[in-house]
Amino acid sequence: MDHDDTIRTGAGTAAVALELQGLTRRHPGVTALDGVDLTLMRGEVHALAGENGAGKSSLIKILCGADRPDAGRMRLFGEAYAPQTPLAAMRAGIRVVHQELHMLGELSVAENLLFERLPRTRLGLLDRAAMDRRARELLALVGLDELSPATRVGTLGMAQQQLLEIAKALSNQQGNPHEGAARIVIMDEPTATLTPRETDRLLAIIRKLRDDGVTVVFVSHHLQELFEVCDRVTVLRNGRHVATQPMAGTSTGELVRLMVGRELVERPARVAPVLDAARPAALRVEGLRHAGRRDTSSSAPTIDFSLHYGEIVGLAGLVGSGRTETLRAIFGADRAAAGRILRDEQPVRIASPRDALAHGICLVTENRKEEGLVLDMPIRANLSLARLGAVSRGGLLRAEAENVAARRMVGELQIRLASIAQPVRQLSGGNQQKVVLGKWLLRDPKVLLLDEPTRGVDVGAKAEIHALLERMAAQGMAVLVVSSDLRELIGLCDRMLVMSRGVLVGELPRAQFDEEAILAMAYREYLVRPQEAA
Ligand SMILES: Nc1ncnc2c1ncn2[C@@H]1O[C@H](COP(=O)(O)OP(=O)(O)OP(=O)(O)O)[C@@H](O)[C@H]1O
Ligand SMILES: [Mg+2]
Repeated sequence: MDHDDTIRTGAGTAAVALELQGLTRRHPGVTALDGVDLTLMRGEVHALAGENGAGKSSLIKILCGADRPDAGRMRLFGEAYAPQTPLAAMRAGIRVVHQELHMLGELSVAENLLFERLPRTRLGLLDRAAMDRRARELLALVGLDELSPATRVGTLGMAQQQLLEIAKALSNQQGNPHEGAARIVIMDEPTATLTPRETDRLLAIIRKLRDDGVTVVFVSHHLQELFEVCDRVTVLRNGRHVATQPMAGTSTGELVRLMVGRELVERPARVAPVLDAARPAALRVEGLRHAGRRDTSSSAPTIDFSLHYGEIVGLAGLVGSGRTETLRAIFGADRAAAGRILRDEQPVRIASPRDALAHGICLVTENRKEEGLVLDMPIRANLSLARLGAVSRGGLLRAEAENVAARRMVGELQIRLASIAQPVRQLSGGNQQKVVLGKWLLRDPKVLLLDEPTRGVDVGAKAEIHALLERMAAQGMAVLVVSSDLRELIGLCDRMLVMSRGVLVGELPRAQFDEEAILAMAYREYLVRPQEAA
């Protein structure tokens, strides 16, 4: 510490937790961070906002020692801070919940939570009892009280894994005396996979951290959450610092303007299309019953619905209610216990995704990392993965056709990239999501199933994707979309199906959309008394 700094970090500025000066990070063709200055205070919740690719995750990676800046410097509580590894950052009191999940599917919940510091007995053996106890405490913290610490993480859904990531970050917080306690907790889109109830719990955890004097950095594309929990907001655009200001007194419109650099035009409310009654339904699901549900007997309720050409139908429900299972069963990715699928009113056999594709049915999956993308392959190749047949026709023309198709999608979805030859891994989270969508749109599906298509996508791009889906529907595509963002479904869909605990509990036309009514339906089956559920 030089003399100058000793003076600057006197009592008057003691509340400064972290100071960034001129932080810069360049990649070939992209400047992810361009001379960013930022000061974080002790005990504040600081929002980091910006479009997909603005530089939020890049900044976070540097803060937590996962990446190093090309220029600029940082000071943590007045001392020079330049972590060379994530462990060094952790020792300095920085904890992070990354945008992508890092749980190890083969290991148990307890092992994942306590990975870095498994409790040992005096003999140096693994202390199973202590592990179990510790894990249960952490699970309770994030509301997963009912989950057994012995569960294999690979069997859990995305939301539960996300909650585990958060619990894990907090586990380090209570740390052992050799490591600094958490001073700064960074959360990169922790709520993207969470339901409103889980999000509320997380926001409560964040407030508690703040009250304990911890600095929280919070990234979310759900602006409402920023307003609910953050004290100040910093906006990044194209890697540059645009503004830092108190959340109170900032309007949503102003925040959006700062993020996208222009005014967003409000999309006109959707008008449900008049459907041609004489035309066969694009898709009909009859007597569908999921394997692995609590009741798969022949008297158990089944899932029955239809989907018409030109229609956008929403599938609402809580995480784990069976929405993803339903999409996967239609797509042939999972086997249903019973039921049949009709295309154009004709029964079709769908035993695998290949069968589904042959019948013009595509599924945009929620888990881009595992199912949607090959991260180390170029963007171009990822976009054409789903349609190798189409681009490979004509031999030599293949590469050129691939390029043309890829460029068209990049333009249509406004994917922010340096080159279509770049590996997908290098794209920001939201832009990766757009590649998944583009890959299926290029296949020109008749029936498009989408599972959380705008998760992690910024406000502007979200509106563009909605407009794109409307255009697709107007051209005759049948669209079925799952989203945990009920307002998104209300704005986008013509009809809403509601699931609760594996059962299709309701169906509403657009005119009867009502947030509370839909939520009540979504909770219905979870309120049944245990003896009835048995
Ligand atoms: N390893 C890399 N190689 C090349 N470019 C990269 C690399 N990592 C990040 N970038 C680029 O840096 C820019 C900033 O990305 P970053 O992940 O920080 O965005 P973000 O603000 O977190 O966006 P999102 O909201 O989509 O998560 C993007 O254009 C991205 O493609
Ligand atoms: Mg990001």
